[in-house]
Amino acid sequence: MAATSSACACAAVALASFPSAASTSAPSRVSASSHRGQRHSRAATVRCSSTSPNVSQGAPAPAPPKPQIELEFVGPKPGADGSFPVDRAEAASGEKLLRDVMNENKIELYAAYGKVMNCGGGGSCGTCIVEIIDGKELLNERTNTENRYLKKKPDSWRLACQTIVGNKENSGKVVVQRLPQWKR
Ligand code: FES
Repeated sequence: MAATSSACACAAVALASFPSAASTSAPSRVSASSHRGQRHSRAATVRCSSTSPNVSQGAPAPAPPKPQIELEFVGPKPGADGSFPVDRAEAASGEKLLRDVMNENKIELYAAYGKVMNCGGGGSCGTCIVEIIDGKELLNERTNTENRYLKKKPDSWRLACQTIVGNKENSGKVVVQRLPQWKR
């Protein structure tokens, strides 16, 4: 048991601290009765702290904050004031797919057909199209699935269910055009 071995260590320290207690054969100038009393008194002052938290080491340092990717999603059509609507979100770098970030933040991803007929992120419908306006270098490379579905589309187009936001180490801002096929 850990408590037993710790107690032994404490006893060793105590004996080392008080050599007269460690050796009964060493000459002593005190009488037997007072020597016994002294030993008893010393023993009573020894405290074993092995079961207490090690305060000298302190609590473990908190984990450093994860790098974050800031995302902006630009709508495909201008509002009444002529400006394009922008939604914002944030994700820990390298931990999520763009599709999941958009779904979690209730940011519209699919056009009419995709809304009802998408494959749920399986990479088999090609309807989760976005365009990366800025921050492409913070994402993974296009996958084979994307190359197949987006063969004749601009390089900046991606499938959101294939796009990993960040690589766990990088941070920065990615600007995404929603529904680039609707853009005008
Ligand atoms: S959701 Fe079907 S390919 Fe992305």
